[in-house]
Amino acid sequence: MRDKPTAERGGGYVKSFGCQMNVYDSARIGGLLETAGFDQRDGVEDADIVVLNTCHIREKAAEKVYSELGQLRVLKAERAAQGRKLVVGVAGCVAQAEGDEILKRAPVVDFVLGPQAYHRIDEALARARAGERPFYGEFETSEKFRDLRERPMRIAPRQISAFVTVQEGCDKFCSFCVVPYTRGAEISRAAPDIVAEVERLASDGVREATLIGQNVNAYRWSGDGRTWTLADLFSRLAAVPGIARLRYTTSHPLDMDEALIAAHRDLSAVMPYLHLPVQSGSDAVLRAMNRRHTSDDYRRLIDRIRAARPDTALSSDFIVGFPGETGQDFQDTLRLVRDVGFASSFSFKYSRRPGTPGAERADQIEEQAKKERLAELQALLESQRVAFNAACVGRTLDVLFEKPGRHAGQFVGRTPYLQSVQVDGSASLIGTVRRVRIARPGSNSLFGELVDMDERVAS
Ligand code: 5AD
Ligand code: SF4
Repeated sequence: MRDKPTAERGGGYVKSFGCQMNVYDSARIGGLLETAGFDQRDGVEDADIVVLNTCHIREKAAEKVYSELGQLRVLKAERAAQGRKLVVGVAGCVAQAEGDEILKRAPVVDFVLGPQAYHRIDEALARARAGERPFYGEFETSEKFRDLRERPMRIAPRQISAFVTVQEGCDKFCSFCVVPYTRGAEISRAAPDIVAEVERLASDGVREATLIGQNVNAYRWSGDGRTWTLADLFSRLAAVPGIARLRYTTSHPLDMDEALIAAHRDLSAVMPYLHLPVQSGSDAVLRAMNRRHTSDDYRRLIDRIRAARPDTALSSDFIVGFPGETGQDFQDTLRLVRDVGFASSFSFKYSRRPGTPGAERADQIEEQAKKERLAELQALLESQRVAFNAACVGRTLDVLFEKPGRHAGQFVGRTPYLQSVQVDGSASLIGTVRRVRIARPGSNSLFGELVDMDERVAS
């Protein structure tokens, strides 16, 4: 579809909830809306079309959709009184899981698009304009990937770091999780398409690619006579001129194979920072969660990764209050956290999700106990985060500079561990990797000084 002439153009706003996959998808939807004639806006006020890209992972996130829709209902009525239209779309995992109910409960909604159907947004818009209220909820991920090849992602000018989708869906069926139901079965994108996308991004100035998917280390593609794993992809992508850093998120411990661990050891572009969710430190809870590994399996895996790449730092996701979790189980989680040491983590109270096996269990945990356990776990994780940042003070780390800082003459970059660092310098820093001595920690970022004013390292 060709872009509409400027005079007819409207405004589009995509509001994103949830994970990085949704952030990526929201950028995708925004780009497709631009092609359809809607320039991207930062809020609903001057938008003619609003798309909520929703998250279903926990009840709170899913409930947000309905409160957002309530506000949009008021706005749409105000607009109608002025003779102006507002088109409202719901996308993402709530759309997939509850599309029919959304259309029933919320007359403000004009169309619903599940996560595998964003490439059909033009069609959805046309049908919505004709007075229909379509719901696209089929799983056709391969079509989504094909569309991505035919109409590549647009990136912002001077973007240094970009997400690249390599895989979608999950086959693991952890007993608390809706993802296998909302995003469907694991499907990997063709390796040549991923390589081509990273090459294109690199030629546009991108220096860091984060490969994203629900279970990225399960990546497997055999369309060209050989089987590509994530480790194979990394070897190939590390050779793309301009690419200095590779990251990936999110992963399952069971899919952390020898070749991938070797890639951490052998490829300097693969950052020594790994998000590897463990969820719990109790074997009984891990079993009930259908994680298919023990807490010692996780400890041994971390030992192997650290043996391969000693400077590796870790982050994880944790759930407290899974049905049946005892006080002792929770203590086992705290012990695992102390044993491993995490640079940063996400932790949640278990949320009962309809359709998942965990939701059916009779031994649900009281809200108060969940609250107390979460507070205790978060205090421990926060102390580890602060200690990790403090331990970086005095060290010299490679920093990839991304953008100007808040104050004149300040520039912001990221360490291998995704810590943001503020440094005094000039705009020529942007897009380069420099050695930076970390001088002091702030609350959300570190402050540092360039070690060599002129010399570029690995840029
Ligand atoms: N309740 C709480 N947290 C959950 N997560 C997934 N499902 C649930 C749930 N039902 C968390 C897990 C996962 C992260 C993305 O969200 O920790 O790794
Ligand atoms: Fe959900 Fe488990 Fe799959 Fe992660 S691995 S998306 S937690 S089912």
